[in-house]
Amino acid sequence: MASARAHTHLLIIVFSFLSCLLSCNCLCAASELRDGFGKVKGLFVFGDSLVDNGNNNFLQTLAKVNYTPYGIDFPLGPTGRFTNGKNLIDLLGDRLRLPLIPPFNDPATKGNEILHGVDYASGSSGILDDTGVALAGQVINLNQQVKNFIEVTLPDLEAKLGCSSHQLLANYLIIFNTGGNDYIQNYFRRDPHSINATSLEDFTDTLINSLYHHIKKIYELGGRKFVLNAIYPSGCVPVILASQSRGQCSDIQNHAARLFNHRLKQLVDTARSHLPGSVLVFFNSYRIVLDIINNPSSRGFIDARNPCCEVMGQGIVCKRGGGVCRNRSSYVFFDGIHSTEAVNVVLADKAYSSDAKSQVYPINIHQLALI
Ligand SMILES: *[C@@H]1O[C@H](CO)[C@@H](O)[C@H](O)[C@H]1NC(C)=O
Ligand SMILES: *[C@@H]1O[C@H](CO)[C@@H](O)[C@H](O)[C@H]1NC(C)=O
Repeated sequence: MASARAHTHLLIIVFSFLSCLLSCNCLCAASELRDGFGKVKGLFVFGDSLVDNGNNNFLQTLAKVNYTPYGIDFPLGPTGRFTNGKNLIDLLGDRLRLPLIPPFNDPATKGNEILHGVDYASGSSGILDDTGVALAGQVINLNQQVKNFIEVTLPDLEAKLGCSSHQLLANYLIIFNTGGNDYIQNYFRRDPHSINATSLEDFTDTLINSLYHHIKKIYELGGRKFVLNAIYPSGCVPVILASQSRGQCSDIQNHAARLFNHRLKQLVDTARSHLPGSVLVFFNSYRIVLDIINNPSSRGFIDARNPCCEVMGQGIVCKRGGGVCRNRSSYVFFDGIHSTEAVNVVLADKAYSSDAKSQVYPINIHQLALI
């Protein structure tokens, strides 16, 4: 009896040793990968200014907001976040009980700092390589963001945890929040009469195909849980409202956003069969922001048309050291484009726990975390 047990033990040891040799990852301990909420260890974030948490501070770009009044309600002051307080990623991180996710471009983002994920997002960037460059200068396009993740962070993380990307990536959420600038700063600035003019439908397909290509690449490395955020109602942001003759939302801009979002939701359905074992979640922030704009008082907002801060030049970003509204939580927009923290809180709550499939589809982020 005793010897049979010893025999079993020996077998287990030999077996563990062999599986270690086979995977070459003797250190990878599943427990190390589970200290967030549910099974989420951290977030890898790709996208534009709505989720940039300081990457552009390190670039030669006009899309850089590392000054007051940005961050006026953020515990660390101005950090390069494009709002008064926390952005959507910070607030989702809070709900998942994760620490603040560091920006990739910060030289301090190494070692233990990358264990809970990294944010690669860059203000003014889009899905296409040339989006944002003409207006802002240097930006990190989505190709480069994904490259930074795959070529820099991932090898570091594998070495740090002793796990292969296939062992570790399923424990992280991969978040994409991009596409808006491809319309505002690219498509709608093209000459519509050019012989090369592309239809909005074709342009949108190009964006979605490119996004899918990135998702697939990360899936092939082991990524399983993806969150795709919709484009906000770009036609209703203060800088666009100011350019409309009757001060109404731009139908053309909103139509483009809806088209993109519709395709993004379809992508969630088609990807399910093409990427077995993956779960993609579509977050319809468009609808939530538009509901607030159409009925601000229902959510406790008073002003849904004007920027809270004093904007400069083109009306997009706040003036350095400029004035700011007294009660930030009564404004929908902090500057000419970006939502206030108060709106971001509504968004994070819906994304995390709404049961309405018209808001977050097919499951919410709380449910995604528990898978
Ligand atoms: C049209 O597209 C071609 C090929 O992409 C490019 O070489 C050419 O410069 C474009 N012409 C215009 C007017 O944009
Ligand atoms: C700020 O605005 C919010 C939302 O409109 C309101 O609930 C709150 O009472 C206001 N706070 C102050 C100090 O006026």
